[in-house]
Amino acid sequence: MNYNTNSLIVNKNYSNIQPFRSRVLAVVSGKGGVGKTNVAVNLGLSLARRGLRVALLDADLGTANVDVVLGLHPRYHLQHVVTGQKTLSEIIVEGPFGLQIIPGASGLPDLADLPEIQRQMLLQALLVLDGAVDLLLIDTGAGVGQSVIQFILAAGEMLVVTTPEPTSITDAYALMKVVSGYQMPVSTKLVINNVQHRNEGEATGHKLATVAHQFLGRQVEVLGVIPSDKSVRDAVKMQSPLLQSRPYSPAARAINHLGEQLWAGSPGGKTVNSVGKFLRQMLSLKIMSIAIV
Ligand SMILES: Nc1ncnc2c1ncn2[C@@H]1O[C@H](COP(=O)(O)OP(=O)(O)OP(=O)(O)O)[C@@H](O)[C@H]1O
Ligand SMILES: [Mg+2]
Repeated sequence: MNYNTNSLIVNKNYSNIQPFRSRVLAVVSGKGGVGKTNVAVNLGLSLARRGLRVALLDADLGTANVDVVLGLHPRYHLQHVVTGQKTLSEIIVEGPFGLQIIPGASGLPDLADLPEIQRQMLLQALLVLDGAVDLLLIDTGAGVGQSVIQFILAAGEMLVVTTPEPTSITDAYALMKVVSGYQMPVSTKLVINNVQHRNEGEATGHKLATVAHQFLGRQVEVLGVIPSDKSVRDAVKMQSPLLQSRPYSPAARAINHLGEQLWAGSPGGKTVNSVGKFLRQMLSLKIMSIAIV
């Protein structure tokens, strides 16, 4: 697919940046393979199509694959940023509907294991986004690794993706439990993906939200359910994003609805954390091991 590469899309002039304008949302899951990347990419596209300025950071530093789902072949990626070879603006690729993709680097060590200088370079580089986008979406790796937890705590808002499978639900709960252990404010949204029957998905969401409230004191907003849809698999195989190649499929419609829900009641974006605050948190976060009772 022929998208603009290396287009300088963000404003490099820090003095023009309006602070506290960009919302940051980490897309996470307990179990792997539940659909985070597809949700992040297509949710990003859905919001970008409405005219929002959306950036998508491929922060699955082990096995980044946002570019694969989008059929992009970026020349540069985060590795070039952490080594100081490129600026963030130079690696950003423009996807469909103007979605700004920040390509990840497969094989990069976990953020928490990056040498401190490289970690700081990466985070400082992201500062260019503050005020230049309405939403920074972060596609993370699965589980409760330190870098995922750092992204969640710093973002202040997470979208937990699970399927109705018991193992996926248990792992989603475990993730929420770990996050709750840090006692930092994190707004929590939930999406049930790959659902055979709508009722089953809604019941799963309701149950998980109830248990999280009862045992973790967490308010969880069930954003919606996404049906199991062959179009998702076809789109991945074709490396053409669902929202573009199958815009009227049931899964695409459901993701559009999620986008509406996410932005509902928050004109201009409900700023839970700004990119600036997110970066300050990331730079200062010292993850301590917490004994989960
Ligand atoms: N709604 C759906 N309907 C049908 N298949 C789906 C759906 N959502 C995801 N899938 C399938 O699941 C696969 C994995 O999805 P995806 O890569 O988005 O998961 P992930 O959570 O990002 O995985 P990882 O934890 O490895 O990063 C997709 O390639 C697709 O085949
Ligand atoms: Mg993924």
